[in-house]
Amino acid sequence: MYKIQTLNNISKNGLSRLPTGQYSVANEFAEPDAVLLRSADMHKITIPASVKAIGRAGAGVNNIPVAELSKRGVPVFNAPGANANAVKELVLAGMLIAARNLGEALSFVGSLDAKEDLHHKVEAQKKRFVGSELAGKTLGVIGLGAIGVKVANAARALGMRVFGFDPHMTVDGAWQLSAEVVKAGSLNELYAACDYITFHVPLNDATRGIFAVESLEHLRSGAVLMNFAREGIIDAIALRQGLDDGRIGRYVCDFPSPELVGHARVIALPHLGASTAEAEENCALMVVDQLRDYLENGNIQNA
Ligand code: MLT
Repeated sequence: MYKIQTLNNISKNGLSRLPTGQYSVANEFAEPDAVLLRSADMHKITIPASVKAIGRAGAGVNNIPVAELSKRGVPVFNAPGANANAVKELVLAGMLIAARNLGEALSFVGSLDAKEDLHHKVEAQKKRFVGSELAGKTLGVIGLGAIGVKVANAARALGMRVFGFDPHMTVDGAWQLSAEVVKAGSLNELYAACDYITFHVPLNDATRGIFAVESLEHLRSGAVLMNFAREGIIDAIALRQGLDDGRIGRYVCDFPSPELVGHARVIALPHLGASTAEAEENCALMVVDQLRDYLENGNIQNA
């Protein structure tokens, strides 16, 4: 009987895929065979010597000490693409929240008193929330993996002109995934051309601070930066400077950071990108299948 310890809320549907009688799943075991988790920070916990495999029900593995585990011969499985649709939809929502001032508009409506003359108050105030349309604007997508390509194609359907840049994608065939996307020659070229810029790269040594203080001078004035990937991708000093002097018109992100809470140009969500019923199930199914195949047959898929 294999013991699989879960560290976050993992979709029950994924776990029901495990053959009954051969696995036991719980939040705590003295000697688990495998750990299944979402975003819990495994750098901060001691991983028991009994653990033979880790399953990350999501794409990013920066919360897991992969190099250390690999020295111990422990594979880390993840679920790339399984939540791409959910993230894409939230990126589109983020772009619309910024373009149409929806955060401010919703707060205004939430502050109304039912005893007031609502019609009069709404008509008097609504000019404060006049926004702009996405059609005809330019979007830069940095990272054309499973999520970036979906965002690029969805933005095109909204009438946006899309520029793409991928630090690793050099093969022209791969680029055809999003044939209508203009291939930017460099990040700076993309920054200069775009009204909206969205980052879809994993956080690693090559991408940490990919948007730096020097990037600000190339940015189209008032551009909206969107980060639904990981916090360290945009350098914190660059972000603060750009937001304070208005070179960054808005920063839409999926994680509130302490130094930016309450900043008028920041729209922050509580890491909701992959939080749909469908994505949670897709991720759990994908990663549980890989764990099962490894523990039962020793096969390594996608580690
Ligand atoms: C991911 O890397 O796919 C997300 O962080 C998933 C999650 O929210 O668990």
